[in-house]
Amino acid sequence: MKTVVTGGAGFLGAQLVARLLDAPDRVGDDRASRRVVVADRATLALSPDERCTFIEIDLGEVAAPLGALVQGADAVVHLASVVSADAEIDPERAWQLNVEATRRLLGACSRSAPGCRFLAASSVAVFAHGETPAGEDTKEVPASTYGMTKVVLELLVNEATRRGQVDGRIARLPTVIVRPGRPNLAASSFASGVFREPLSGIDMGLPVAPEVAMVVIGQRSAVAGLEALLAVPADQLGADRGVNLPGLEVTVADMVAACQRVGRARGLSVGAIFAAPDPAVAAIVASWPSRWDDRKARRLGLPADRSLDEVVVNYLDDFGTRRG
Ligand SMILES: NC(=O)c1ccc[n+]([C@@H]2O[C@H](COP(=O)([O-])OP(=O)(O)OC[C@H]3O[C@@H](n4cnc5c(N)ncnc54)[C@H](O)[C@@H]3O)[C@@H](O)[C@H]2O)c1
Repeated sequence: MKTVVTGGAGFLGAQLVARLLDAPDRVGDDRASRRVVVADRATLALSPDERCTFIEIDLGEVAAPLGALVQGADAVVHLASVVSADAEIDPERAWQLNVEATRRLLGACSRSAPGCRFLAASSVAVFAHGETPAGEDTKEVPASTYGMTKVVLELLVNEATRRGQVDGRIARLPTVIVRPGRPNLAASSFASGVFREPLSGIDMGLPVAPEVAMVVIGQRSAVAGLEALLAVPADQLGADRGVNLPGLEVTVADMVAACQRVGRARGLSVGAIFAAPDPAVAAIVASWPSRWDDRKARRLGLPADRSLDEVVVNYLDDFGTRRG
């Protein structure tokens, strides 16, 4: 069983790689015979495990050796991406990586790993903000360059699936919290910062108003959801391989309250949270859905968070209060 994970050195990728290696034995997939190839342009410090190899590669390069990368793969998980605020700054780079590199990767799979499972990460940003929950039947009208590139990525995966080139699946992720380490260039970065910084005793400026509503998913459920979606039998997915991973509908005020509650319960000295409006971030976040229809994911049995508090507890248990 060979699985290639692009962006495997990133936030979700590194955790997914660990899960893929550690998952219990299944019929035709015993732990000892698993091979995971991490493909990223950033290096990943791997714990010594002969089943896992790291390949440094810039997927945005037209000449990137994708055929050799996916040769004989049973599954490809495609997470490498230009993220939201970065895509607004540099739309050309977002198109080159999120669309063109995805198209080339799918082509490489059809030639060098025909029929392999191909799981791509999409986003809540493919939908516009609306009054009704955004779900599988909602027209995708993205309000950002990032969202637009993810819509095209979804079409490419569905098309390659229809043509029998890959067995595609698309995970539409709500904003994933809590990301450890440093803030990144996603417009949603504050949604992790609002937990991570105060729980490390650092004050946190909020770029959006407390009443702003959004859909979030805990990092454990996001990673477990990717792994579970990869394992779903193809005949349960339908022609549209997109699935909204289960999310929690919350306000920023809910997030602040959960942070303070869990921090207090853990006896931490929680940093202050203050208003620091950023109209550019606020505009992007306001364009995303705050209502979420995840019935397809729940029908498929994908894991869901029970509460924000549980998500914060999981973060502290997995990453502690270190800021990276
Ligand atoms: N984290 C979230 O809240 C969230 C929400 C919705 C969707 N997603 C999607 O999930 C996926 C993973 O997100 P993440 O939070 O782990 O992102 P991340 O930024 O932590 O990781 C992305 C990885 O891709 C790598 N990468 C970027 N450009 C590359 C290139 N040209 N060649 C090779 N590797 C490259 C980066 O080095 C990084 O390790 C992305 O596709 C993202 O769009 C994430």
